[in-house]
Order: sequence, then structure tokens, then C-alpha cells
Amino acid sequence: MAQSYEEMDAIAMLKADHRKVEELFEKFENTNGKATKQKLAEEICLELKVHTAIEEEIFYPACRGKIEDELVDEAYVEHDSAKLLINEIEAGGPDEAFYDAKVKVLSEMIEHHVEEEEKRVEGMFSQARAAGLDMDQLADDMRARKRTAMEEFQAGKPAETRTLEGDDVASAQTDQPLGEGLQTR
Ligand SMILES: [Fe+2]
Ligand SMILES: [Fe+2]
Repeated sequence: MAQSYEEMDAIAMLKADHRKVEELFEKFENTNGKATKQKLAEEICLELKVHTAIEEEIFYPACRGKIEDELVDEAYVEHDSAKLLINEIEAGGPDEAFYDAKVKVLSEMIEHHVEEEEKRVEGMFSQARAAGLDMDQLADDMRARKRTAMEEFQAGKPAETRTLEGDDVASAQTDQPLGEGLQTR
């Protein structure tokens, strides 16, 4: 039987999130009905907002200083690029001219990003594993944060970027959670 999400270590958990979103993107591609498309796109956006939040607040900070710095920096910027599209998709709908294109481009961005995280040996997860991070503790922390983040985003909070023009980039440089004592805009 497959390992339950509650028992997974940090990397297994993040990979399970990746597989879930990939499946949703595939369903979106194979769907024609507008209502179903919108429902799937919204589910994709919610999942990605929660996933990027737990990585940025818990997993990436744990990696900082233990793995290649550029890898962590690029991961933040890749998240932010994806978040711009996520917020666009959430604000739009399937009647809009570029809706499907936005979802497609988001899927390609995520595919590349997931590759950077999961790549064997030089990928972020491999480096984190080799650095000896406490994957069980990180998993517990991320599961706990996942529950509260899910509530926040389900209540309509948009994705917040950290590294773009107008952001306070300190949140990405020091890996502070957003919105806790830090001016983000
Ligand atoms: Fe990820
Ligand atoms: Fe990520």
C-alpha cells in the first residue's frame, strides 16, 4: 500500500504534491467543458499557492546555506513567475481569450521548476538530502503549515511574490514568512 501523506518525510511529501498538480494539469488538458476547466484551474492554483508557501516558509529556509545558494534564489524567482500567472488565472475565466494558454504556460513553468527540485544528484531535493536536513521534522512543520495556508488561500488570499520589482526582497533573502512583521509591498 502507498505510504500515507501523514507519514511521508519532507521530500516524499513535496513530491506527492508535485504528482497531484501534474495530474490536475493533465486533466485540464483533456477537458473541454468550461465549467470543469475552471474548477480544475482553480484547484491547480490553490494547490500551487499552498505548496509554494510551505516551501518558501519552511523547506527553502532549511536549505539556505546547506545547498547551492543560486538554486534557492532561482527557486524563489521561479515561484514568483508562476504566481503572476496563478493570480491572472484566478482573476480570469475560461471565456477569456488567453485562459487556456495561461494554464498551459503555467504547467510548463511548473514542469521546469519541479525538474530543478527533483533532478537526481544536483537537484535541490538531492542536495538537501545529502546535506542531512531533518526530513521528518520538516515534514511535520510543513503539514502543520499546510493546513493553515489552505484555509487562508481558500478564503481568497492571492499569491504573494517576494522577489519582483516592488517587493521587499528581504523575505526571500532571509526566508521570512510573508506578512509577519515584514512589509511586503
Ligand atoms: Fe516543489
Ligand atoms: Fe518549488
